[in-house]
Amino acid sequence: MTTWKRTHTCGEINAALSDETVVVNGWVNRRRDLGGLIFVDLRDRWGVVQVVFSPEVFSAEEFAAAETLRSEFVVSVEGIVAQRPEGQVNPAMATGEVEIYARRLCILSQAQTPPFHLDRPLDVDETLRLKYRYLDLRRSDLQRALRIRHETVQYVRDFLNQNQFLEIETPMLTKSTPEGARDYLVPSRVHKGKFFALPQSPQMFKQLLMIGGFERYYQIVRCFRDEDLRADRQPEFTQVDLEMSFVDADDVMNLMEQMMRGLMKQILDVDVPDPFPKMDYHEAMNRFGSDRPDTRFGMELRDLTEQLAASEFKVFSSTAAKGGVIKGINAKGCGAEYSRREIDSLVEKAVGWGAKGLVWMNIADEIKSPTAKFLNSDEIDSVVQSLEGEKGDLLLLVADTFETACDVLGRMRLFLAETLNAVPQNRYDLLWVVDWPLLEWDGDSKRYAAAHHPFTAPKDEDVELLGSRPGEVRAKAYDLVLNGVELGGGSVRINNTKLQEQMFRTLGFSAAAAREQFGFFLDAFQYGTPPHAGIALGLDRMIMLLAGQASIRDVMAFPKTASAVDLMVDAPNAISKAQWDDLGLTSAAKERKR
Ligand code: AMO
Ligand code: AMP
Repeated sequence: MTTWKRTHTCGEINAALSDETVVVNGWVNRRRDLGGLIFVDLRDRWGVVQVVFSPEVFSAEEFAAAETLRSEFVVSVEGIVAQRPEGQVNPAMATGEVEIYARRLCILSQAQTPPFHLDRPLDVDETLRLKYRYLDLRRSDLQRALRIRHETVQYVRDFLNQNQFLEIETPMLTKSTPEGARDYLVPSRVHKGKFFALPQSPQMFKQLLMIGGFERYYQIVRCFRDEDLRADRQPEFTQVDLEMSFVDADDVMNLMEQMMRGLMKQILDVDVPDPFPKMDYHEAMNRFGSDRPDTRFGMELRDLTEQLAASEFKVFSSTAAKGGVIKGINAKGCGAEYSRREIDSLVEKAVGWGAKGLVWMNIADEIKSPTAKFLNSDEIDSVVQSLEGEKGDLLLLVADTFETACDVLGRMRLFLAETLNAVPQNRYDLLWVVDWPLLEWDGDSKRYAAAHHPFTAPKDEDVELLGSRPGEVRAKAYDLVLNGVELGGGSVRINNTKLQEQMFRTLGFSAAAAREQFGFFLDAFQYGTPPHAGIALGLDRMIMLLAGQASIRDVMAFPKTASAVDLMVDAPNAISKAQWDDLGLTSAAKERKR
């Protein structure tokens, strides 16, 4: 088998090379036989070019070889570049003005018929794509996404290097770092019965690097979280993680704005505002029903508590009496469009999301609503007015606690915007959500949990509430949101032992438990801790938005399924008896059999 040295990539063949002899390598994208000629679209990383095999040039034997070509065969072709004849120019192809007249063909590798087409719009089951990921990766979408990923990482590295950050690696085999998910654990062979945890984030290490005097650290780092997966969550994912000393929240936010602005310009040629808008957590919940508001469209939530608190309709009056709220949104145009069945399905959705019910008012010639009979006309008028209801609109109301009412209507807002195609495309709304609650109440365990992580500092003016009304304490925390996706989060950190110990107490750690898990960290604080703050951006989510993909799986080379399985390598998998023994492990199933 002969191969010739590649002279050009497929993508760079153009009219300027006419009459030149070139050698191209690549995969057969498609083969067509027409009028005794064989046409092959040859593909490499840089593009696709048409190659023509003619029996006039080839011997019968060589032409027979060309006839064996199938999709995904790997070949080397030597040929002469020619302008395509008039009428055969393909404007849809970057190399569509030219073709290569093959002189010699070398088949480097044959291929079985792929389990799905690589050159057509995707209508393939994702599990098949994940099982044959190496084929899926040949598709132009994934080629493009991974190129954007590479460019983004290069940009981020250059930016941070120029800003005096040092890239420092932190351990993967370590101890639990609480970020709100379960840990992935690795059993120790040497210390039987003991486990390493894979990091949920390098949070404690990066703070220790500040105590260690590095002042500006970053890392493009893999994190591991055993949590319920969604389109924008994977069990292992990558963070752009950084930490800075002698700074406050604004310094971190300003730097990130500068980085994002440059990145969006470079990758998308998009200008984003300077500075990014800031919205406090309460306003985000109140207006958008979400702590990561998508501000690309309206349909904002309105508070109707005041005007409905005295209503004869018990659902409203009793909710208001208990300190709850009544909130509503206007599903513009849905009143005229939706059938009764479709409206009922909205009610079901609301209940599925945790509401006790959903009051709807369809504005036709008169108000159609099963609830209207319980409301007087002033109440109805004021609801219509507050929600700017017009004929054809559908008004949706939920009465509940502030959190539930906002959350349910926030989800409804997103659902309706998507079904109504009301989300503008090619728009990038970046904003900071600030003034987060420091703690959130966990009804299951009946104690407070850190809203971000336990190292986040409370706002100075709220510190004294920590003992008496912890739920009201706000954090020096900030989240970066892009088009309704949480891109990143960070905070100013606690930098004194007393406050850190108090925080652990508030979170329900006994002194002994805090020492057992975080003793080394609390000790470190005793040796000169600079004020410090940082942030981590989800790299996969960032690329997903930059590449215009709907799932982070589409911007990762080898992602896992929604049930945390790698279908290609078949992981996780069973281990041998020898490995069980080596690690000193016994399975619960075996224990039960004893
Ligand atoms: P946080 O937990 O908010 O903060 O994580 C930072 C960002 O990481 C991304 N992210 C994920 N991406 C994909 N799959 C996941 N399972 C996943 N979980 C999180 C998100 C998120 O905004 N140590 C802190 C940062 C700090 O305080 O400096 C932290 O990890 O985009
Ligand atoms: P009920 O009194 O439970 O039969 O509910 C009467 C109507 O009010 C039904 O249409 C329910 O969907 C609606 N509803 C009940 N509870 C709520 C609530 N908390 N918020 C909004 N609508 C509700």
